[in-house]
Amino acid sequence: MIEPALVADGVDSEARRHVLRALAAGTGIGWDGADRAVFEERFDRHFPALFRLFHELYGVRQDWLDQLTDLVLQSARSWAERPAALKGLDAEREHNSGWFQSNTMLGGVCYVDRYATDLEGIRARIPYFKELGLTYLHLMPLFLAPEPHSDGGYAVSSYRDVNPRLGTMQQLRDLAAELRANGISLVVDFIFNHTSDEHEWARKAAAGEPAYSDYYWIFPDRSMPDAFEQTVREIFPDDHPGSFVDLPDGRWVWTTFHTFQWDLNYSNPDVFRAMAGEMLFLANQGVDILRMDAVAFIWKQLGTPCENLPEAHTLLQAFNAVCRLAAPSLLFKSEAIVHPDEVARYIDPAECQLSYNPLQMALIWEALATRDVSLLTQALERRHNIPDGTAWVNYVRSHDDIGWTFADEDAAELGINAFEHRRFLNSFYVNRFPGSFARGVPFQDNPRTGDCRISGTTASLCGLEGGTAAAVERILLAHSVAFSTGGIPLLYLGDEVGQFNDYEYAAEEGHGTDSRWVHRPHYPAAGYARRAEPETTAGAVFAGLRRMVSVRSATPELAGTRLVGFVTNNPGVLGYQRPGNGTVVLALANFSDGPQEVTAVTLSGFAADAVDVQTGAHVRLDAGLVLEARQFLWLRVTPRP
Ligand code: GLC
Ligand code: GLC
Repeated sequence: MIEPALVADGVDSEARRHVLRALAAGTGIGWDGADRAVFEERFDRHFPALFRLFHELYGVRQDWLDQLTDLVLQSARSWAERPAALKGLDAEREHNSGWFQSNTMLGGVCYVDRYATDLEGIRARIPYFKELGLTYLHLMPLFLAPEPHSDGGYAVSSYRDVNPRLGTMQQLRDLAAELRANGISLVVDFIFNHTSDEHEWARKAAAGEPAYSDYYWIFPDRSMPDAFEQTVREIFPDDHPGSFVDLPDGRWVWTTFHTFQWDLNYSNPDVFRAMAGEMLFLANQGVDILRMDAVAFIWKQLGTPCENLPEAHTLLQAFNAVCRLAAPSLLFKSEAIVHPDEVARYIDPAECQLSYNPLQMALIWEALATRDVSLLTQALERRHNIPDGTAWVNYVRSHDDIGWTFADEDAAELGINAFEHRRFLNSFYVNRFPGSFARGVPFQDNPRTGDCRISGTTASLCGLEGGTAAAVERILLAHSVAFSTGGIPLLYLGDEVGQFNDYEYAAEEGHGTDSRWVHRPHYPAAGYARRAEPETTAGAVFAGLRRMVSVRSATPELAGTRLVGFVTNNPGVLGYQRPGNGTVVLALANFSDGPQEVTAVTLSGFAADAVDVQTGAHVRLDAGLVLEARQFLWLRVTPRP
C-alpha cells in the first residue's frame, strides 16, 4: 500500500529522500568519505531502477519502503566492507566492461573434491590451468551441505561456510586472489531458488517458527499443493512425484528438485533481502561471476507452470541492481534449461550478462547423431545473436544431463516431428539405436510423460571407448562449434583428455539413483599423464583442443558473439561467419561420415584467396572445397564487395 503523501510527491522521489536520510544517518555503515562518495554516485545512477523493481515486487506490502531502505543500507555496508583489491577490480572493469567477450576467454568447470580433493588441491592445479589457457574457473558448489545427500552441493546449508571437506572460507578467498593474479576469474554458484532442509532457516521453519515458515512455500495440507500441481511439471520424478513433500508435522513444503531442497519464497521481501546479503557476501570473497542456478523456478503463481514468470526477471534485475551498487564488477550467468525463447529472455546487461547456451549444446549432439545440420543451422541463424554487453557460455556438455530443448515449432518448420525426434535421440544416445556410436545412459526416464534426458561424458557419448579416430574427431568437431560460434567456451575439465563414463557412481553413497554421476568422474590421472603423447587417444584429444584454444586466441574475429549465417547447400556441412574488422572468419564443419563438398558457386561471395587460420596455409575457394569426414575449417575470407 502506498501512503497518500508519497503519491502526491511522486513515490520514487519521496522514497529516494527516505532512503537518503537513512544513508545520511549512516548507522552502522562505518565508511570513509571516499567510499561514501562513490556509493552516493552509484546510488544516483541505479536507485531509480532498484526502486522500480522493488516496488513492482513488493509495493503491495505495507512495509515495502522500510524493506527497501534496509536493502540499500545493507548494500552500503557491504560496499564499505569490500576489500580494496576488489574495489580496484570494480574500477578497472567499469572501463573495460567487455572483458568477458575477448577471444582469449576460456572456461573450465570441475567439482573441487572429484577433481582435486580440496581447495588446496585446486590451487596446486593452477599451473595446469595456465597450460590449458583457462581464464574462467567454475568450481561446482562448495558450500556446507547435507551429507551424503546434497545433489552435488546444490542443497546449501550455509552460504557463508565452505564445506569442511573442501576447505575454509579463508582458503576460498586466498584461492580467488591467486586465480585473479593468474588471469583466471572465479565462478561459483548462487543457488538461490532453494536451500537445503538443514539450512538454519529451514530448521526454524520445520520447528514451526512463523517468520521462517514464510521463507519457504509451506502449506498446512494438500489443498494448495494439489492446486499448484495442476500446472507445474515434475523435474526429478525419480526422487519424488510432484513438487511437494510432507513434513513430520503434516505440513507440505515445495521442493522442485529433491526432497531435501526447499524452494525459497520470494514473494516475501525478507527472503529477497536475506539472499541479497548472501550474494554480496560471496561477491566480497572475490567471486567474479555468479552462476544463477535454476533461474526459471524462482517465482510461483497459482494457475501457471511456475517457470519463467515475469517476476523471475524482475527478481534477477533487482539482484543485479543491488550488485551495481555494492559489487559492480560482479556478473551473472543464467542457468535456464528451458524453451529457447525463454532462455533468451534472461540475457540482458541489466539481468544476466552471461547465459549457458543449452540449445547449441543439444543441437551439436543432434547433428552428430543425424549427420544433418539443419536444426543447428537454423538455431545459429535465428537464435544466436543476443544483446550487446552479453555473451553466451558455449559448452558441449555440463555436469547435468542433456535435454533436447529445441523448440517444437522450429523443428516442425523443417518437417521434423519433435516428439519422435527426441525419442530417436534418446535411443541413439543410450545405444539402443542400431549403428549408434554413443555410450550414454538415460536420466529421469519418465514412462508416464515419455520424457527422458541423457547422461554421459563427451568421450563416451562420442564412442571413444572403441578407441577409434572417428570418436576423437567427433569430440573435436563438437568443441569446434562451441569454440567458434561466439561467447565463452566452457570445458568440463577432464574431457580435454577424453575421460570416459564412470560406472562406479552406482556404489557411491547418495549417488546411486542419479545417473548424472556417470559423467562426473574423478580426476582422470592416467589421461592427464598421457596428454603430451599424441599417439594415445588422451593425447590426441588434448592436442586437438589445445590447438583450438591457441588458434582461437590468435583469431580476433572469434571475439564477441555476433554471428552471420552461411548456407553451405550441403545438409552435412555446418557453416557460419564471424565478422571481424574488415575480414570474416568462415567456419565450416562436416558432420557427415564421408567427404563433403562445398561448391565454388556457394563460396563465390568471397575472394578466391582465403587463409586457413588453423594452419596458416592459403586456400583457393574458386574450385570449391572438400571437407573430410568430421573435419572443420576456420577460414579467413574477404567478402566480395
Ligand atoms: C541446477 C543444477 C543441477 C541441480 C539443480 C537443482 O539445474 O545444475 O545440478 O540439480 O539446479 O539445484
Ligand atoms: C536441472 C536438471 C535438468 C532440468 C533443469 C531445469 O538442470 O538437470 O534436467 O531440466 O534442472 O532447470
